[in-house]
Amino acid sequence: MDLLIKNGRVIDPASGVDDMLDALISGGKIAAVGRGLDGGDALVIDASGLVVAPGLVDMHVHLREPGFEAKETVCTGCAAAARGGVTTLVAMPNTKPATDCPEIVALVRDKAASTGVNVLPAGAVTVGQRGEQLTDFAALKAAGVPAFTDDGVPIQNLALLRQAMLEVKRLGLPILDHCEDKDLVKNYGVNEGRVSEALGLPGRPAVAEEAQIMRDILLAEDTGAHVHICHISTAKGVDMVRRAKARGVHVTCETCPQYFTLTEDEVLKQGSLARVNPPLRTQADVEGILAGLRDGTIDALITDHAPHTAEEKAKPLPEAPSGMVGLETALALNLTGLYHSGLLPLARVLELMSRSPAALLGLDKGRIAVGDDADVVIFDPDEEWTIDREKFASKGRNTPFHGRTVRGKVRYTIANGKIIYQED
Ligand code: DOR
Ligand code: ZN
Repeated sequence: MDLLIKNGRVIDPASGVDDMLDALISGGKIAAVGRGLDGGDALVIDASGLVVAPGLVDMHVHLREPGFEAKETVCTGCAAAARGGVTTLVAMPNTKPATDCPEIVALVRDKAASTGVNVLPAGAVTVGQRGEQLTDFAALKAAGVPAFTDDGVPIQNLALLRQAMLEVKRLGLPILDHCEDKDLVKNYGVNEGRVSEALGLPGRPAVAEEAQIMRDILLAEDTGAHVHICHISTAKGVDMVRRAKARGVHVTCETCPQYFTLTEDEVLKQGSLARVNPPLRTQADVEGILAGLRDGTIDALITDHAPHTAEEKAKPLPEAPSGMVGLETALALNLTGLYHSGLLPLARVLELMSRSPAALLGLDKGRIAVGDDADVVIFDPDEEWTIDREKFASKGRNTPFHGRTVRGKVRYTIANGKIIYQED
């Protein structure tokens, strides 16, 4: 079925288009963008007052399947993605078994096929994410992985990581690097400082993240590999990436709404719901993240969608797992915190959520010009609504943003020319 999206504000950050236009979708592709288009018998979507933008690309999502289906499945995670306007996502490999061989990549892709969301499983760097032996990168690349990562279990062995970088460089794919030094972080998912002291818990110091960022910038410089720093959370970390970029190192980075919207104080208010690795930091770090978003040091906005069961998150803070869901709240949190606050233009927020991550993964996604895949999000940029975790399509209810009023609401999500979400 062809689709004609009429009278929307089409924003395509890649081409600089930002205008009141129609978009015609046919055969899963963008067939035309222009004024007064005639779609014949196409289904018409009235997008008056709405923004029509490239479907969002989230390069850091935990879908949990295989192995942790009580937290999320590929199917429920993709439904959450669709509800959040996300049409392409990179699935993290900390599944059980880990996504360390082509068979698991194929399994995740097969499960995702019927959801309509473009799911790209990332390959593990080490077998079983045990940090001991490299996986078969060439075989994983042939199976379709866009990147390699041991997210959740940062690689500690420098020699192994250097070898991994030399190999991914040859294959032309990035390493997605969760930076936290194992020996410097205790459990608990709480920043080391005022709040960890108040709680009487050992925290995770900022330097645990920063020391590995510095280490891995040096390795990127040494090997020439593309190192992408995951979910950066500290001001100093952002500054190290800024300086490395300036001297030509192939390093990029991402952050999430929680790192510029919340501080460590949230742990005192919400306990385990505010527990995440790396942990929520200080107000000075929030300002450093915002500065990095403003000056382009930070290349992508991601969710680090990390669903856990209600039972797990109901445990006391020291025992609960780290992580928060994010797919269904990211667009609104980013629009509220970055666009409505006057920090960034709307098109730039959208670029950070679509074309920019797609480009750094080498994907033909995140654009809506003629000939592109018809991955589109249609949303009201201004509508105010209150986040309600009971309405999530995700199995995970573990958000620290429940009850928060935000602006920006997804109306339709279209992937490869099919409507995969439509607001009731
Ligand atoms: O808080 C986190 N949760 N950080 C990670 O790196 C992994 C994630 C998870 O898998 O739950
Ligand atoms: Zn991580």
